[in-house]
Amino acid sequence: MKNFTVLLLMSVVALLIDPSHQLSRHRNLSEIVEKRRSSVERKPKEWTPPSISTQNSSALNHLYAQEGLQENDKIISLPGQPKDVTFAQYSGYVTVDSKAGRALFYYFAEASQNPNTKPLLLWLNGGPGCSSFGVGAMTELGPFRVQPDGATLSSNPYAWNQVANTLFLESPAGVGFSYSNTTSDYENANDDNTARDSYTFLLNWFERFPQYKNREFYIAGESYAGFYVPELADTILKNNNSRTSFINLKGVMIGNGIINGETDHCGRIDYVWSHALMSDEDYANERCSASNSTYQTDIHTFHAQLQSYMGEINPYNIYALLCPSHPNPIWRSSISTDATLANGLDGYDPCTPGYVLTYLNTPKVQSALHANVTSLPYVWTECSNVLSYNSLDVTTMLPVYQRLIAARLRILVYSGDVDATVPVTSTRYSINALNLPIEKAWYPWMDGNIDVGGYSVIYKGLIFATVRGAGHQVPSDQPSRALTMTKYFLAGKPLPS
Ligand SMILES: *[C@@H]1O[C@H](CO)[C@@H](O)[C@H](O)[C@H]1NC(C)=O
Ligand SMILES: *[C@@H]1O[C@H](CO)[C@@H](O)[C@H](O)[C@H]1NC(C)=O
Ligand SMILES: *[C@@H]1O[C@H](CO)[C@@H](O)[C@H](O)[C@H]1NC(C)=O
Ligand SMILES: *[C@@H]1O[C@H](CO)[C@@H](O)[C@H](O)[C@H]1NC(C)=O
Ligand SMILES: *[C@@H]1O[C@H](CO)[C@@H](O)[C@H](O)[C@H]1NC(C)=O
Repeated sequence: MKNFTVLLLMSVVALLIDPSHQLSRHRNLSEIVEKRRSSVERKPKEWTPPSISTQNSSALNHLYAQEGLQENDKIISLPGQPKDVTFAQYSGYVTVDSKAGRALFYYFAEASQNPNTKPLLLWLNGGPGCSSFGVGAMTELGPFRVQPDGATLSSNPYAWNQVANTLFLESPAGVGFSYSNTTSDYENANDDNTARDSYTFLLNWFERFPQYKNREFYIAGESYAGFYVPELADTILKNNNSRTSFINLKGVMIGNGIINGETDHCGRIDYVWSHALMSDEDYANERCSASNSTYQTDIHTFHAQLQSYMGEINPYNIYALLCPSHPNPIWRSSISTDATLANGLDGYDPCTPGYVLTYLNTPKVQSALHANVTSLPYVWTECSNVLSYNSLDVTTMLPVYQRLIAARLRILVYSGDVDATVPVTSTRYSINALNLPIEKAWYPWMDGNIDVGGYSVIYKGLIFATVRGAGHQVPSDQPSRALTMTKYFLAGKPLPS
């Protein structure tokens, strides 16, 4: 715990002195993944959902009047957006604690066709501390992509609002445009407070958008949201009563998410070795059972070691070309071929985060989004530099998965198979630890007639799917496969064989 706090403080200091941090795709997730591993001193620790309605600081005390706010939040038009936008967009703040002055920012893109009958899907990015709007909506599954000029938007042909009404929440306060007037909230960020605030957000948001009450509702997310998503689902189930049952939660989708410290760790070592990123000798030393792994020494040494084995590649997609103009060397490549072409990844431009940074820091864009947290201009960053996230020592989501399975939620755990931070091996080891009976054994699933999208196993209570050729951020790298997978998931159908 102490080490973890020190680590976070160090990264905050590092961020402050390193101007390139604003473009860094994520916080150093890998260390956070490893901190979840239990050890001799660290017993596996479970998570307990907060009981909202029985506490003084209860979400039900934080229900605020929402009349007229839906109309206020309507986006007339985003600067530079394409001409033919047919769906409604909203964004703004939902106060989750008026005394502290804490408000969460959301962006909502309604379905491009038949929004009245399509389900509602909430998307959460991880980090912890990264923006669901700037990363999730603007570089992954949202309706637009920012162009290299940082000023115009193009349509994303694989946007998930073709199959759902898509809600992006910047969580917790201190991330993206979300804020608190009580700065100590930023130091008290942890899984409990995040789940509580996200739940309070939902109760208020449904009051603001009452037409979505009782609508089929799904929660999706990636990376550290491997903790956020099951935790929020667990909180919804635990606090379900006659006043809250309009949250018609049907299922969850988790992509390259952390699940269980021990298996996440072992899966990484095995992935790095089996993808020719580490020598046999180093593997023998670092492997899970090795008593003299640098992991046993300390987490910093272990990570420095892992990074030195792999070299300066993008650990979130080991085969991607890096952005040549990126200020942070870890994301840069000396190879100057056409990045998107060489990537072979359905045209995803690895410099996109830089374009998003420019776009979201344009005052007229912030005004159009109603994102005026303080006086304009407000400096938006992809991952927060004000938050110090406290891990609460929780190491595993396996018991939470068991509760979600018992509640008969639809669960899809998917994994882009070229990510080295939360790799597919980690996800498989973690699912294996659940010991679920197999209902349909491993099979290739198809995106259309000729393209194998990945592989799937249907367990009793949970579907596992890989996405071929995708890194940590599946909808960026393989947008067509990601959309197909989501479409089948929302329809409650197995991926097509
Ligand atoms: C935070 O403080 C500002 C300035 O006083 C105020 O306008 C805003 O409403 C406060 N935010 C919340 C959520 O109360
Ligand atoms: C909440 O409780 C109601 C009434 O018992 C039930 O019909 C509904 O399915 C529950 N909601 C969830 C998300 O489990
Ligand atoms: C421990 O590390 C040393 C030196 O790095 C190596 O020679 C030895 O084989 C390792 N032992 C085990 C059990 O992996
Ligand atoms: C992660 O942290 C370790 C140790 O602080 C560092 O050596 C490594 O370069 C970091 N990786 C990235 C991708 O920033
Ligand atoms: C903030 O947003 C509100 C509502 O959209 C608007 O009335 C106000 O002028 C904005 N303030 C600034 C500083 O842009």
